Amino acid sequence: MSPTASSPASSAPIALHDRFGRAIDYLRISLTDRCNLRCAYCMPTEGLSFAPDAELLDAAEIETVVRAAAELGFRKVRLTGGEPLLRTDVVDIVRRIAAVDGIADISLTTNGIRLPQLAAPLKAAGLRRVNVHIDTLQPENLKRLMRWGRLEDLWAGLGAAEAAGLVPIKVNAVIARGFNDEDVVGLAALSLDHDWTVRFIELMPLGSGQESRFAIDRYVPNHEVKARIVAALGPLEALPNADLADESRNFRLAGAPGRVGFISPVSEPYCGTCNRMRLTADGKLHLCLLHDDELDLRAALRGGGGPEALRAILARAVAAKPTGHALNRGIHTEARRMHAIGG
Ligand code: 5AD
Ligand code: SF4
Repeated sequence: MSPTASSPASSAPIALHDRFGRAIDYLRISLTDRCNLRCAYCMPTEGLSFAPDAELLDAAEIETVVRAAAELGFRKVRLTGGEPLLRTDVVDIVRRIAAVDGIADISLTTNGIRLPQLAAPLKAAGLRRVNVHIDTLQPENLKRLMRWGRLEDLWAGLGAAEAAGLVPIKVNAVIARGFNDEDVVGLAALSLDHDWTVRFIELMPLGSGQESRFAIDRYVPNHEVKARIVAALGPLEALPNADLADESRNFRLAGAPGRVGFISPVSEPYCGTCNRMRLTADGKLHLCLLHDDELDLRAALRGGGGPEALRAILARAVAAKPTGHALNRGIHTEARRMHAIGG
């Protein structure tokens, strides 16, 4: 099936398919490129510049985009950053997206620091669940890797998410050699006490700054993480993947309520089942996390073309989606760091 930008059907439309037959029904929206942390693999501590406010899509514009996407068969939305909870209008944004016909799932990726204030209002506004980013339970290592983060703040965020019912909670940890590769056992053990999925993410190089060097130098393949966990905590039972597009391979420790997952974009690329389109905070459709290709949705949005123009550019973006990344050939995105795409 080829992508089409024609008027939406009255009942649920069928998702757009790209050139490789992948159904694209998942939109990841970055709300800001700013963050209250400076994880070593994501942002430098100095020399950053951020998109000016006037370039960010506002809440009404985001709603308009999601409506157009839903008319083209998009079903899932994730809000990311930088840190999405730095947006003062984040609750309003969630409420607007939740009201869009056809959007079945809204989730959010956060470092959790602002969840104690925001978890309950976000839930009330229609947010379903959160992924919380925490790389280690060792305060000293946390300070080295996530730099401005304090363990008690991230932990409070997790508690607030759980109390507000933003479940199932996924805990994301990015592993860097010499920083937190020995802490993976403690993280995996969280699944013994909590109904969370603790997911280990392989470092990916993004951008042309020191972070991409860091990601290459400190990369730890997930088979190593897994072996360390099994040696300390016992066998991991493989769980069937409920969702084929889930990038995480999930397992369970004996008797655990929670799960342990491995996201291995470098050692086991999953581009073949990719179902995502990304929207940057400054309104560009970023066609693949690890490529620079973008289409200017903001221009279409502010150019007065209406919903039809938006559907057309979304359809073009799906049609132009690259087949996958080329990390094994040393190619990665140069133009943007992770905080300006949203993972
Ligand atoms: N490689 C892999 N994952 C990363 N993240 C941020 N930077 C990188 C990187 N270089 C993760 C964070 C966050 C998610 C959006 O992406 O853990 O949870
Ligand atoms: Fe912020 Fe997430 Fe980047 Fe860390 S990885 S600096 S929490 S956006």
